[in-house]
Amino acid sequence: MNSVPTQTETEEREMIEAIEAMLPRFAKHRSALIPILQAVQQEHGYLSGGAMERVAEYLEISPSEVYGVATFYNQFRFHPPGRHQIKVCLGTACHVAGGDIILENFERKLGIRAGETTPDREYSVERVACVGCCALAPVAIVDGTVLGHMQPSRVEGLFVQFQVEREREEREKAEREPGGEQDA
Ligand code: FES
Repeated sequence: MNSVPTQTETEEREMIEAIEAMLPRFAKHRSALIPILQAVQQEHGYLSGGAMERVAEYLEISPSEVYGVATFYNQFRFHPPGRHQIKVCLGTACHVAGGDIILENFERKLGIRAGETTPDREYSVERVACVGCCALAPVAIVDGTVLGHMQPSRVEGLFVQFQVEREREEREKAEREPGGEQDA
């Protein structure tokens, strides 16, 4: 119920343990760097600082080199993904159609910048390159659904919808928890 700012220490520890287990599958050579980072992200959804340091140690290269490579490719995330993942297209057509204004609306509404996640892990926002629906510009992809012709008012509407869903989920959870045990 409380919006405590994440349990990143536990997560970080778990991530590092999982990395320890996975590293022997990869050659101890810098050519393995990207495949390792991809594997970590695929399993955990993002790359933490500690994870990158451990990878650097394994490959015997500097953490700044790992970080430099990871930030060069925009496929890597450095924050855990939110429960609701919001992506805003800033490809040319979307940019011309005001995609940056849509992104700014999401950022302002959530109090985070693109590439970040809210402290309660509910939302993450990121910018993406053309997703191939230019005729619908400006486009946002919310939890995997493409939303075309975005406008600031639709951003507001989305959050109303999220709020309604959240309240419904909490109600259902509360109904299930106190008395209604399910005997499978
Ligand atoms: S530029 Fe946004 S979908 Fe193509």
